[in-house]
Amino acid sequence: MLTEVTATRYVTPLREGGSLPGIVEADDLGTYVMKFTGAGQGRKTLVAEVICGQLGRRLGLRVPELVRMQLDPVIGLSEPDQEVQELLKASGGLNLGMDFLPGSIGFDPLAYGVDSAEAGRVVWFDALINNVDRSWRNPNMLVWHGDLWLIDHGATMIWHHSWPGAAASAAKPYNASDHALAPFRPDIAGAAAALAPLVTRDLLTEVVADVPDEWLVDEPGFDTTHAVRRAYVEALLPRAASIHERITLEAPSRPRPSQAPGWLTDHLGPWPHPTEKSTKGGGQ
Ligand SMILES: Nc1ncnc2c1ncn2[C@@H]1O[C@H](COP(=O)(O)OP(=O)(O)OP(=O)(O)O)[C@@H](O)[C@H]1O
Ligand SMILES: [Mg+2]
Repeated sequence: MLTEVTATRYVTPLREGGSLPGIVEADDLGTYVMKFTGAGQGRKTLVAEVICGQLGRRLGLRVPELVRMQLDPVIGLSEPDQEVQELLKASGGLNLGMDFLPGSIGFDPLAYGVDSAEAGRVVWFDALINNVDRSWRNPNMLVWHGDLWLIDHGATMIWHHSWPGAAASAAKPYNASDHALAPFRPDIAGAAAALAPLVTRDLLTEVVADVPDEWLVDEPGFDTTHAVRRAYVEALLPRAASIHERITLEAPSRPRPSQAPGWLTDHLGPWPHPTEKSTKGGGQ
């Protein structure tokens, strides 16, 4: 089970996130990014965060620690922003927290090189969970202490929005051409060989057990939360075995605009980034 903490202070909203997550302090003296049950995206976003975040962590990918976070909306009473007030009021009780990485910056391909082995692991993982939210426009990756960290797994596992078609949906290919790590020659075969054998029924069962019951109850078509958990396992298990054969990956044919701040890009050349140039050899 995820560790449970209680929010003690609402610090500030993270406006770049569509769901308006907030930086929140907790009674363990930790600082977290809180994702709210009252956000318009709904509780399935949080279910996806837990399953995919925990799965990524178990596969050795860097995903900040997740915690259950209890919220008493009273901590937001002095918050001047009406939108934040309403979000907190709608989110009393259990929410999701992700360890806040202080000083991290958003991943930018101009500023940070990724080797093909790591790029392959991330692309393979995103194919497994059908992540549509790691594009070069919105990478949802952070660089912290020189390492790449994966965040924001709310827009994954599209099949959980329509369980009757889940098996067919989970068998579909994954187009990674727009993936933020597509330019880094991802070694998909290597990643599949290393990671697919780790995705066993036991591992998936442990991962889905971390989803709070509260977010699974009354799921249409299921009598028990146990049955919902099993449905996630049944969708992910076959996908892990064979998704590497159905990943489409075309290298981008034109330079893509940097998302990095000006102070950083002023010191760097245009895409492809320096690592890319040097691996092409010859210093051309
Ligand atoms: N653990 C973290 N540590 C530091 N900053 C973070 C962390 N998690 C999120 N952020 C920052 O907050 C922003 C919003 O977070 P996130 O992408 O998870 O929210 P979202 O509402 O799901 O966003 P989206 O609009 O992409 O759906 C991130 O782009 C990042 O800048
Ligand atoms: Mg995001």
